[in-house]
Amino acid sequence: MTLKCPSDPVNLYDDAVIRNPWPHYARLRDLGPVVWLESLGNYAFTQYDTVRNGLRDHETFVSSLGAAADEYGCTHQRGNTVASDQPRHTTLRNAILPPLTMGNVAALKPRIQAVADEIVDACVQKGQFEAITDLAQPLPLTVVRELIGLPDFGRENMLKWASAAFDMQGIQNARGQAARPVIAQMREFITKETTPDKLKSGSWAHRISEMAASGDLDPELAPFAIRDYINPSLDTTISAIGHFVYHIGSNPQIWDHLKANPELALSAAHEAIRIGTPIRSFSRHTSKDVEVAGHLLPKGARVMMLYASANRDESVFPQADHFDIERRNVRRHLAFGAGIHMCAGMHLALLEIECLIRAMTQRISAFEIGEPQVAMNNSICAFANLPVQIHTKV
Ligand code: HEM
Repeated sequence: MTLKCPSDPVNLYDDAVIRNPWPHYARLRDLGPVVWLESLGNYAFTQYDTVRNGLRDHETFVSSLGAAADEYGCTHQRGNTVASDQPRHTTLRNAILPPLTMGNVAALKPRIQAVADEIVDACVQKGQFEAITDLAQPLPLTVVRELIGLPDFGRENMLKWASAAFDMQGIQNARGQAARPVIAQMREFITKETTPDKLKSGSWAHRISEMAASGDLDPELAPFAIRDYINPSLDTTISAIGHFVYHIGSNPQIWDHLKANPELALSAAHEAIRIGTPIRSFSRHTSKDVEVAGHLLPKGARVMMLYASANRDESVFPQADHFDIERRNVRRHLAFGAGIHMCAGMHLALLEIECLIRAMTQRISAFEIGEPQVAMNNSICAFANLPVQIHTKV
């Protein structure tokens, strides 16, 4: 017997909801593991188990019809790694993965730590700084730009492109529509400017373009692979650093504990990623009629995987709204997804954040944060501004 699915009127892309989505997620979780979102015409998986099991079942919950929240966004992104199924997904993922494996990323540690040290030194020098533009953005922008090796196109372009791509993964509200020309500009740039002669030798993009030139990768897939290094690699990591600073700034006793135990830096990075969940949600489509928790979802239904809600599920993360760097099971969070589409860049993101935390623990004894401003993006949960005042240097 299938039960009537509970429904809720919330529009998860409303400005007010984006500013504070947490009570809405709590209400949706209380309604049940599967909820019909009236204003979007989508189902949502709200609780930890439903989200994780759905992500792991990539044959029932497919990605090739798109991972955005409406039809336009889904159509627009089809063919991207994140919006494809086997065999295309396997080909693209195998092409992009080698430089992002744990071992290859670990070899980058000295360079990433040096960049992180420089950035924190500059902030300490200022005494008063802005956590997003002075601390969070420079690290992935410097590291990822060096590694990708595209011709110089400026930090503003890269941030603008990445954030537009995430707006497009929501719905066609003002943000989704404004993203269209920006994404068109990025796609044109990548198509024109990524021939092997224009790319830094040995870089990630150079490697992809050589694979295309030598026949190891279908040349039609090369721009998709290069976009995988640009679009998801900035706003996500920047968001996580912002959440870290916010929570550690709100809990001075945790900062003292972390300074005394810097080996907790990686756990602290995971906890910031869990509690902030940089990508609030992506979607899947059902490839057949399927029953989930007693509810029948018809073939072709769009299902939102609410990673951010799953990561606050009290049945898995007790006192889920509390920032706890000693959380025993923190690595079970779903902020990187799960299953075959699990984040390809997670080792790089974690290393960047860990290096930044270590640099901070060695240089900042105490600090205070001001009033944060939430960034308005359809998919990314982040702060746009977060003022910081350093009180004492180590
Ligand atoms: C804290 C930082 C990050 C977070 C929270 C994050 C989150 C995610 C999530 C949730 C997915 C899964 C999408 C799905 O289920 O459909 C994903 C996929 C992906 N991420 Fe990340 N990401 C981060 C950093 C990065 C970085 C630094 C890179 C690249 C250098 C990257 C590249 C990718 C790619 C290529 C995919 C698509 C994988 C696939 O479809 O097989 N991400 N990420």
